Amino acid sequence: MTVLIKGGTVVNADRSFAADVLCVDGRIETVAQKLDAPKGAKVVDAGGRFVMPGGIDPHTHMQLPFMGTVASDDFYSGTAAGLAGGTTMIIDFVIPNPQQNIMEAYRQWREWAQKSVADYTFHVAITWWDETVAKDMETLVRDHGVNSFKHFMAYKGAIMADDEILVNSFSKALELGAIVTVHAENGELVYRLQQKIFDMGIRGPEGHPLSRPPEVEGEAANRAIRIAEVLGVPIYVVHVSSRQSLESITRARNEGQRVFGEVLAGHLLIDDSVYRNKDFESAAAHVMSPPFRPAEHQDALWRGLQSGNLQTTATDHCCFCAEQKAAGKEDFRLIPNGTAGIENRMEVLWHHGVNTGRMTMNEFVQVTSTNAAQIFNLFPRKGSISAGADADIVVWDPDRSKTISAKTHFQNIDFNIFEGMTVKGCASHTISRGKVVYADGKLDVERGAGRYVDRPPFASYYSALKRQAQLKKPSAVKR
Ligand code: URP
Ligand code: ZN
Ligand code: ZN
Repeated sequence: MTVLIKGGTVVNADRSFAADVLCVDGRIETVAQKLDAPKGAKVVDAGGRFVMPGGIDPHTHMQLPFMGTVASDDFYSGTAAGLAGGTTMIIDFVIPNPQQNIMEAYRQWREWAQKSVADYTFHVAITWWDETVAKDMETLVRDHGVNSFKHFMAYKGAIMADDEILVNSFSKALELGAIVTVHAENGELVYRLQQKIFDMGIRGPEGHPLSRPPEVEGEAANRAIRIAEVLGVPIYVVHVSSRQSLESITRARNEGQRVFGEVLAGHLLIDDSVYRNKDFESAAAHVMSPPFRPAEHQDALWRGLQSGNLQTTATDHCCFCAEQKAAGKEDFRLIPNGTAGIENRMEVLWHHGVNTGRMTMNEFVQVTSTNAAQIFNLFPRKGSISAGADADIVVWDPDRSKTISAKTHFQNIDFNIFEGMTVKGCASHTISRGKVVYADGKLDVERGAGRYVDRPPFASYYSALKRQAQLKKPSAVKR
């Protein structure tokens, strides 16, 4: 299939320039001015619009089995919704149950993901530890293109990783040339506070943020970062929602540590007043962890993004409908944690980021695509409009306005946390693997068209192997 995107302005992370983009068989073949359409090519008129790398959402949970239910957007509907918003790739999570064989969980998620309509890859969570887990981490890095391992420092009694697991897993990741990622909340404190608040008679969703204050996040972020510092492994903190957590990241980066931070579109734009809504359905629909914060944290997060101390934006897309959220009607601790957003991430960030002057178009591309590609070793195959890259592209219309609503979104959920928000600037066309899959409000996707993307480890794995091999040589021993 051949597609020519004509007359647009290419916006990459580093610069913008007028060019046509020719895509052949899933790849970008040529980026140059005044290209002629080859015979049979589909031509997309991008006049007056921006041609940008498709978004990468580095944090999603499609059809996640969680808190007694399963997330309602599966890999088909969730990746399709992403394409409608200009996101052409997700990094989802394999989350083994405690004691579940890691490879078995990995194979399960690979099978579920086969219905994806956009490209995908996986972080793998380490939820327990023994020597078989260490071996499986090795297999995943060596043979399955996994270069990141996730650790939930919360969810005690379920998937929480304590310090012993963190130290074991971080050490192994370093040896393998992988990056570690953490959900930073002190699970012990959350557990204790949940009990206390419940015992005080607070049963509704307003109890959720009270049981997970910013300090609980700040403590965990700082602990994980310092453990990573001692061990010398790069670390990525997911869904940074508080000033405290951002301060730990900023401090460590200023000290020269390799630390990255991700912020969710929701945490930038929504505050904790949503939990005080008397309507249970609406308040429960916002229950996610870490929770939405008082407005001062949003200001800090925007500054973190602008200063480069936070590098990526994500959604933590994890949908639960009203009937699923109702499991916690009498007890906020039982409300399935998660909110949606994959379809809206790019447009809300453009509207509140670029249109307000908080970031340039190139910075928008950095935080929605290129930085994630670089941090997780997908660049320049992803995150770049350049010859040889995958043809994952969004044509962006800066003049088009829309009002976000659950009534019109593609996401398989009955609620939208950005309901009623009018945004100016959104995707007019999305090209995935060289095919136009979204145009002017309509999806044209093929079940299973998305591909699993390998992510090679970072250099240290190979240098460690080389060093080991050299040590075994007699000449090396003599020296
Ligand atoms: O509330 C959330 N974030 N649900 C999904 C699991 C996680 O913690 O990322
Ligand atoms: Zn999380
Ligand atoms: Zn998550």
